Amino acid sequence: MTFVYLLIATHILFVAACPTLCTCRLKDAVFCQGPSIKDIGSLLLPSNFTYIHIINTLATEITDKSFGNMPITLRLRLEDSRLTFITRDAFKSLPQLKSLKLTNNKLETLPAGVFDSLFYLEQLFIGVNHLSSLHPNLFCCLQHLKELILNRNQLTSLPNELLRNLTELITLNLSRNKISHLPVSIFSSLTKLKKLHLYENQLLTITSSAFNNLGELLELALYSNSIQSIAPDAFHHLPKLRLLNLSKNKLHFLPYGLFLHLPQLSVLTLYDNPLKELPDVIFGKMENLTSLWLYDTHLATIPNFVFCNLTNLQLLVLTRNPQLESLPADAFSGLSNLLELSLHSNNLSSIDQDLFQNLQQLEKLSLYSNNLKVLSENMFYNLSNLQILALNNSNLHTLPGQIFQELPSLQMVYLHSNPWVCYCDFTDFKTWLQQNQNKVYNPMSLVCDTPLTLSNISVLGTGDFMCQYTTTTENKMDFYTTTTSQTPINTQSTNTYHDTTFTNVKRQFILYNTSPATTTLETTTRKTTDFSETNPTTAMQDLNAGVLKHTPYMSTVPYDKIYFFLYLFNTVLKMFVIFLCCVLLVLMRRLNDYFVGLTEPVVLLRILIPLDPVPHGLRWPFAERSARLARLRTHTN
Ligand SMILES: *[C@@H]1O[C@H](CO)[C@@H](O)[C@H](O)[C@H]1NC(C)=O
Ligand SMILES: *[C@@H]1O[C@H](CO)[C@@H](O)[C@H](O)[C@H]1NC(C)=O
Ligand SMILES: *[C@@H]1O[C@H](CO)[C@@H](O)[C@H](O)[C@H]1NC(C)=O
Ligand SMILES: *[C@@H]1O[C@H](CO)[C@@H](O)[C@H](O)[C@H]1NC(C)=O
Ligand SMILES: *[C@@H]1O[C@H](CO)[C@@H](O)[C@H](O)[C@H]1NC(C)=O
Ligand SMILES: *[C@@H]1O[C@H](CO)[C@@H](O)[C@H](O)[C@H]1NC(C)=O
Ligand SMILES: *[C@@H]1O[C@H](CO)[C@@H](O)[C@H](O)[C@H]1NC(C)=O
Ligand SMILES: *[C@@H]1O[C@H](CO)[C@@H](O)[C@H](O)[C@H]1NC(C)=O
Ligand SMILES: *[C@@H]1O[C@H](CO)[C@@H](O)[C@H](O)[C@H]1NC(C)=O
Ligand SMILES: *[C@@H]1O[C@H](CO)[C@@H](O)[C@H](O)[C@H]1NC(C)=O
Repeated sequence: MTFVYLLIATHILFVAACPTLCTCRLKDAVFCQGPSIKDIGSLLLPSNFTYIHIINTLATEITDKSFGNMPITLRLRLEDSRLTFITRDAFKSLPQLKSLKLTNNKLETLPAGVFDSLFYLEQLFIGVNHLSSLHPNLFCCLQHLKELILNRNQLTSLPNELLRNLTELITLNLSRNKISHLPVSIFSSLTKLKKLHLYENQLLTITSSAFNNLGELLELALYSNSIQSIAPDAFHHLPKLRLLNLSKNKLHFLPYGLFLHLPQLSVLTLYDNPLKELPDVIFGKMENLTSLWLYDTHLATIPNFVFCNLTNLQLLVLTRNPQLESLPADAFSGLSNLLELSLHSNNLSSIDQDLFQNLQQLEKLSLYSNNLKVLSENMFYNLSNLQILALNNSNLHTLPGQIFQELPSLQMVYLHSNPWVCYCDFTDFKTWLQQNQNKVYNPMSLVCDTPLTLSNISVLGTGDFMCQYTTTTENKMDFYTTTTSQTPINTQSTNTYHDTTFTNVKRQFILYNTSPATTTLETTTRKTTDFSETNPTTAMQDLNAGVLKHTPYMSTVPYDKIYFFLYLFNTVLKMFVIFLCCVLLVLMRRLNDYFVGLTEPVVLLRILIPLDPVPHGLRWPFAERSARLARLRTHTN
């Protein structure tokens, strides 16, 4: 019985020790909240709690009187309130404090020396306030500080000595401020730092020695700044760095060898920078780098072998680069463990047939939303693990029938939204399509675009395809020969064409595979040659509606119409010539009749050769001549 009374008594005492606006559910923690709290001092907090948690109050300041002597308090949180002011000695009575959190208040300044008595402090959170500057000695005595969070303030610069004594610091969060400049040696004593967050600031440059002594650093977040230049050796002293986030900056160039000495790096983001080019040598050996993001850049190409040190890369994202038009044959050399390669939404117009040949492990390849037109037959050879291939919306006109033959693991290929050109050279591919409908995403949605008669008709729903040329006239051939001889023909590719013994289809790919600028000319060349070699059978309409119509970069010029009028003109000209010939024939016939009527050959001679030259002076030559003629006639008679 006495025991029960004792229990109740202690309970009452315990409750009594808890301030009226607070709760004390945990044995040595007091939790106070609500707008009725306007003055922290008036709470009369008992001195023997280890954890004080005060949030959502209307309190505006912390003064010397806010806390009594609290020798055992270890953790103090004063968050989500309206604190604007702290006196210099406010925390003097909390000598054992290990964690101080003042997040989400309205603090504009902190008096020098305010933390000087907090010798044991390990955690200091002052994020989400209005601090615009910090006193150089503010943190001078926090030798045991491990975590300093200053994110979301208004800081524009930092004093060089600010962090000098924080030799135990492990995490430093300066993100979401307005810092534009870092003092040369601001981080130089942070030899134990593991995480440095500088993202969403206004940094312009990263200097050579900025991170020199951070031998333990694991994470460096620099994204969403305005960084335009980085010193070539800025990251050369970070042997343990695992994460480097440089995305969303203003980098046009990256210096040679920038990432050569980051052997432990496992995440590197570079996307959303206006990068124009990459240096030949930039990535060193990084066995743990498994993904690389390089999208939203201005890259026009990438150097050969640039990724060759990234032997364990599994995901490479090189997408949404509107100026990326070509990739050299060895661009992906060395990526022997790559599982996924994203190349969609670029401006790729030709792909080297050897580009993917080293990617034996590749499972997913996306090439959609490019400008490919045609692909070479053996471009996917050696991709024995390829499962998913996206080629939709890439302006593909045709595909070789064998192109997917060497892909034993293929599960799904996306081919929709392409303007298929349904002539007889597409038949092989249609056959493949018929036999592999289960591997093609929505196969019925593949529709012909050309010829007009098949426009918008499902490839699988068509009969036999016509060949491209169906009538024969010498005139048309002349017409095309003229057209091509007026334009500078790429003789080299014409030679390639003549030298090869490939089939018709293959020849087409060789010609198409050249740069887009010459494609138009070569298309014309190919036609001419086809006329001379194969059975030239074409309806003019087919030509107009056919390949010419879909040759890209011509769409602004109405070639259809020009050709039509040229053809019309040609016909009219022909008819005119025929008419002229007829008239000539009629005339000749009449002349002949006339001469047949003249029996004496002498007369003919006399008409052509005058007997004697016309004498000097003005005479009537015809009268003279007819007089002589009359005389001659009488002679002969
Ligand atoms: C705090 O001190 C009061 C006496 O002032 C005592 O009754 C109470 O048990 C103590 N509480 C803790 C958690 O030490
Ligand atoms: C750093 O701490 C030492 C004591 O360890 C002290 O003497 C010195 O003044 C501090 N430095 C700064 C810049 O406050
Ligand atoms: C920095 O602060 C933000 C906001 O509090 C937080 O999300 C982020 O994790 C912090 N970073 C570090 C390294 O503590
Ligand atoms: C890198 O930065 C972006 C913001 O640009 C962020 O969304 C992403 O989570 C960061 N990645 C890593 C691995 O930290
Ligand atoms: C890669 O990371 C693992 C742990 O994540 C680590 O054990 C290994 O040493 C790292 N390898 C290299 C080459 O850094
Ligand atoms: C690969 O890394 C080595 C050193 O790690 C470096 O010397 C070489 O230049 C790198 N190669 C390329 C192509 O980046
Ligand atoms: C895409 O490439 C073509 C030439 O191949 C070029 O004319 C066009 O401007 C490029 N598009 C962009 C967005 O750069
Ligand atoms: C591609 O495969 C063929 C035969 O399977 C092989 O001869 C060739 O060396 C391979 N190419 C590469 C780059 O592995
Ligand atoms: C292409 O197909 C992929 C599916 O792999 C899809 O995510 C993408 O949105 C498609 N793009 C277009 C433009 O149709
Ligand atoms: C093509 O056919 C589909 C339905 O089959 C129709 O919705 C679409 O408008 C047609 N497009 C053209 C250009 O005729």
